[in-house]
Amino acid sequence: MPLSYDDLFQIFSRIHACPELGMQETKTTLLIRDTLASHDITLLPLPLATGVVASIGHGKGPVIGLRCDMDALPIEEATDLPYRSQVPGIMHACGHDFHTTVMLGVALALKEEEDSLPGQVRIVFQPAEELATGGYALSRTGIVDDCTMFLGIHTYPGFTNGTLGIKEGPVMAAVDRFRVTLRGRGTHAAHPHKGIDPVPALATLVTSLQTLASRLTDPFAPVLCSITHMEAGNTWNVIPESGMLEGTIRTMTPQVRAEVESHFRRIVEDTSHAFRVEPVIEWHAGPPAVINDPALCALARTVADSLGLQTALQEDTLGGEDFSEFLTYPRLRPGIFVRIGTGGDYPQHHPRFTVDPQALPGAVAFFTQMAKACMQKA
Ligand code: NI
Repeated sequence: MPLSYDDLFQIFSRIHACPELGMQETKTTLLIRDTLASHDITLLPLPLATGVVASIGHGKGPVIGLRCDMDALPIEEATDLPYRSQVPGIMHACGHDFHTTVMLGVALALKEEEDSLPGQVRIVFQPAEELATGGYALSRTGIVDDCTMFLGIHTYPGFTNGTLGIKEGPVMAAVDRFRVTLRGRGTHAAHPHKGIDPVPALATLVTSLQTLASRLTDPFAPVLCSITHMEAGNTWNVIPESGMLEGTIRTMTPQVRAEVESHFRRIVEDTSHAFRVEPVIEWHAGPPAVINDPALCALARTVADSLGLQTALQEDTLGGEDFSEFLTYPRLRPGIFVRIGTGGDYPQHHPRFTVDPQALPGAVAFFTQMAKACMQKA
């Protein structure tokens, strides 16, 4: 039997009350496995400590990936929900409990029609989205290499309950992280010429790196550089031996991402040269941008219309989402990341963030129908 609203709410409130941090989602994994197994849904062997991949259908048609995340955040919940977090300091403040519930609902609904599905689905319950590592880890297991496309879900407090946010093209940013250490030569503050001071070089970098966005790339292509942490020295009369800064760069396309990285390296190296310090650049490439396929966006609007669900144009964000790992590994695959309006008065990652569970059935119906439409179309 597909899940009723009461069933969905039950699951949602249980997951919400028992939040777990990334890569530690053992109870959530168990709940997902039990729910799927009790409905005879095939679970694929996943070589990760947490996370679940379910497989439904025997059709020869396309294999559709449906992906959700399941981890919570290190936040002390401050709502007065009857099903609020029972775990001190941990909270589902991004709606991943909602995502997991929706995909369980979709799994059970598709299971009902398993024998008549023209293709297959793989439902991915991915760990550790908040750490930006789970999508990478799961996609690299190779377990979903056979999927021809991927559908992703995220709650969105900006829309009224149940409205689907859809937009073509890049919608979320590639997230790269950098750390630069500048090695100089420490000396007495009174004798700067006897050492090499890394501090003016660091200060110059803070301002000159802003030209990545303002001077070096197309102003119509978003580039963000936030330097969030700097350290040098530990007292007032000593010029330090070295200093560091770190931060993040966000871009929306692979081309701009590559361009910005090379400008970044050149600015750091040339500035260091000018100030006679030795740079060490650590560059951590995070998840790529989420880029929605136009044909899937058109299909999503048609499916939403057929179910009587409202749609709206989703706004872009320079936040990141490792859903993109499934769109880019092991090859480029079309996909769509759909936002679901879940109301509430507080933003994501806020201790009073809530999602309205009334949006669950619409989201289940949408992804169920969308998966079937994708199997028929591709
Ligand atoms: Ni999230």
